[in-house]
Amino acid sequence: MIDPTPVAPPRIGPVQLPSAAVLAPLAGYTDHTYRLICRSLGAAYCATEVTLDSSINLSPKLRRKLIHIPPADHPIAGQIMGREAASMATAARHLAAMGCDVIDLNFACPVRKALRRRRGGHMMRDAETAVAVLRAVAAAIDLPLTVKLRKSFHEEDTAHDAFWRIAETAFDVGAAAICVHGRSVEAAYRGPADWAFLAEVKRRFPDRVVFGSGDLLTAADGVRMLRTTGVDGVSFARGALGNPWIFRQFDDLLAGRDGADPDLPEQRRILEMHYALCLESFGPKDGPRMMNRFGIRYARSHPRTKAVRTAFINSDHGQGIPGILETFYDA
Ligand SMILES: Cc1cc2nc3c(=O)[nH]c(=O)nc-3n(C[C@H](O)[C@H](O)[C@H](O)COP(=O)(O)O)c2cc1C
Repeated sequence: MIDPTPVAPPRIGPVQLPSAAVLAPLAGYTDHTYRLICRSLGAAYCATEVTLDSSINLSPKLRRKLIHIPPADHPIAGQIMGREAASMATAARHLAAMGCDVIDLNFACPVRKALRRRRGGHMMRDAETAVAVLRAVAAAIDLPLTVKLRKSFHEEDTAHDAFWRIAETAFDVGAAAICVHGRSVEAAYRGPADWAFLAEVKRRFPDRVVFGSGDLLTAADGVRMLRTTGVDGVSFARGALGNPWIFRQFDDLLAGRDGADPDLPEQRRILEMHYALCLESFGPKDGPRMMNRFGIRYARSHPRTKAVRTAFINSDHGQGIPGILETFYDA
């Protein structure tokens, strides 16, 4: 039984979101093409893929290569990762100048290379550095600041001392919101996300904006997280990969409507739109390659998932993307 009580979508500083469902940053996927697709289906807010502060600071040319924000791609957070306070502050200023509406700090990345360089999720066991970065970035920008956190570094850490210290500092320096992934850094993406911890965060910060992340694989998961933990918004990640309709389904379910799955003509419409964006943005050589990566994901929404996935995997020396659309999406 769906609870029909209305939910007011949150604000991120001055930015009022039209929905409580946002697209999570997903390295390798949430480039501007996929962000535009998700927005067209109701994603209220998006973030760039995580970018290193040092790359942002290196040169204007590299910055423009890494981050492209078309006019329709707002509101958007620029997400950065690094450990040097001054360098993070400089990168945040560059992102502001490039048109980001919000600056988001990544203190959550579990990738080994990031941890070895004491970045990303490493901050969850180095709260002092995280606090220094937060203070420096908050002082450097006029834009809203947000932070992506995990519940702890070590799986067995039940006190969450670093988490509370970082989250409290974030709000003290004026952060507009935090996004909490309910897994430890050690767990990476394994095991269930701890939604009880999200509820605890909301109890501790009832008047602050908290987004929840972890195990949001369907629109119904998003509604359930919102209702059971009290978070203000839900950040769809793996659930949005290949299913950009998840945002529309979420809004439908929340309003008590049926969150229908897309039929084949609708899937084709979105794939064609995405392919056109890839060609326009990356050209005739790289555009199809970029689209294949997404096509493999879109296949999950197709009744013949396996065959469609294989066709996209072999698309370079097979029938090409227009051929795949003709063969599999001609309803
Ligand atoms: C392929 C992939 C790339 C990701 N890239 C980022 C990233 O760039 N920045 C970030 O904050 N989180 C990143 N994440 C984490 C997600 O935003 C999200 O917090 C996580 O997947 C948990 O949500 P889920 O269980 O619903 O997928 C990534 C996750 C995946 C699977």
